[in-house]
Amino acid sequence: NQKMIIAIDGYSASGKSTLAQNLSKKLKYTYIDTGAMYRSITLLAIRKKMFHSDLWNITNFIPFLININFQFKWNNKLNRTDIFINKENVQSEIRSIEVSNKVSLIARIPEIRKKLTIIQKNFGNKKGIVMDGRDIGSNIFPQSELKIFMKGSIEVRSYRRFEYFKKKGKKISYEEVKKNLFYRDMMDLYRRISPLKKPKDSIEIDSTLISTEKQLNMVVQLIENIR
Ligand code: C5P
Repeated sequence: NQKMIIAIDGYSASGKSTLAQNLSKKLKYTYIDTGAMYRSITLLAIRKKMFHSDLWNITNFIPFLININFQFKWNNKLNRTDIFINKENVQSEIRSIEVSNKVSLIARIPEIRKKLTIIQKNFGNKKGIVMDGRDIGSNIFPQSELKIFMKGSIEVRSYRRFEYFKKKGKKISYEEVKKNLFYRDMMDLYRRISPLKKPKDSIEIDSTLISTEKQLNMVVQLIENIR
């Protein structure tokens, strides 16, 4: 049973992390959420008030990029993978609407992409990983054996994310969620460096048409066929 790298890319809130988590549990693979890495850096930038001052003066960013440290750890109690940045668990905090509204600005900065690209490629030294994001199949692991590309209607994606915020007790309207997803999709599709793009050799999944169980079964079947 040869372990592989599974790359999952696609639109915001299209179900990438749900599929990735389900796959990682089923196959006993490590799940790496690259969106969470961009979100964590955004959180630090907000805390350092960089959005008020010199965000675009990248020299301010370099010192804290150099020693940045990421870890992904399984959280048994909550049945999920948590991200740690510089040893701090930020899994919940990085899901805020403030981080969501700023992350695509951070993700356009070449120095930041360069740094995260190196770290993400290093995770691949160990096979048996499922990684999700926007540029995994196109840029991080173009050689990966299995590439998935996820999409879905903006309404269904927005409604799902709206329900998520509601469950967390966050007061945010459906319209605001929809605006954020649309904005991020545009920023991610049309940026210069490693934009969101469907890799030619990827398998497309429309998550608004296929249940999460069915998605998992489909991909597991694909893996059986590759092996
Ligand atoms: O996956 P998630 O929606 O949490 O990602 C948040 C943001 O991080 C995306 O909208 C995108 O701007 C950025 N991102 C990226 N490249 C990745 C993963 C995420 O640019 N590989």
